[in-house]
Formats: sequence, C-alpha cells, structure tokens
Amino acid sequence: MTFMRNTLATAAVLGALAAAPYAHAADPCKLEISGNDLMQYDKSELSAPASCKEITVTLHHTGKLPKEAMGHNWVLVNAADLAAVATAGMGAGLASDYVAPGDPHVLAHTKTIGGGDTTSVTFPTSILKKGGAYQYLCTFPGHNALMHGTFKFG
Ligand code: CO
Repeated sequence: MTFMRNTLATAAVLGALAAAPYAHAADPCKLEISGNDLMQYDKSELSAPASCKEITVTLHHTGKLPKEAMGHNWVLVNAADLAAVATAGMGAGLASDYVAPGDPHVLAHTKTIGGGDTTSVTFPTSILKKGGAYQYLCTFPGHNALMHGTFKFG
C-alpha cells in the first residue's frame, strides 16, 4: 500500500512538473528562438497577439562557434526592407552587430552572439501595425538567405 501511495504521489509530482513549462510559456509577449552552427533558426515563424504592450524576443545560440565565424542576431523589419537591411548590415561589421547605426528600416534588433550565448531585445508594440507584414533575419554576412522568418502581430 505504501508503494502504491508513493507511486501515485510521484505521478502527481511528475504531472505538475510536466505542466510547469506551459505555465511559464503562457506569456505570449515573451518569445524565444534559437540559432545553431548550421546557420539555422529553429523557428520559421514567431507571433504575438495585439494585446501585448511590449514584446521580448530572446535569442539563444545553441552552437559552439564564435560570433566571428557563426554570429547570429535577430533583426525585425518590414518584409519589404529585408534585403536592404541585410545589405546595410553586412557593411556595418561585427562592432555594430551587423546593423547599420541608425538604420531607419530596423524596427528592433538584438546584439550579435556566438555559441552558448543568449541575448534579448524588448520593444514596444506601438511600432507595429496589427496584421502588418514583418520578417526577422540574421544580418551576419551571408546568413539571411537561410536565417529569416515571418513575424506576425495581432
Ligand atoms: Co547568423
């Protein structure tokens, strides 16, 4: 009987643990994305509801390569500006996180990080239009062709 009770208690604890990640992930205004050493994001789409006053995007680099070789950032743009931002960022260099200083086409961006690092950016949703066509990309030279995705707001 003792064994049975313990088993049931353990099952209850495991159930609570399994539910916990969902409880933390319940804030729809905090988004997570990862980049790896194969020049890939783990998500091709991120979305946040119009009820968010601000959005935080946390970028994890799950690889091992340094940022000089396989740097990743997360840059939010209007979809039409992706190519222009990528080109301007390439020329800006690592010291500027591959984002041209003052680039008016950049809506929000993180730092550029290397393997094992994490960074995040928080921005107000007042800069977004509900239902707008947004994209995110990594502006490390040559990465945006593979590393981009759709950002949905609203
Ligand atoms: Co990258």
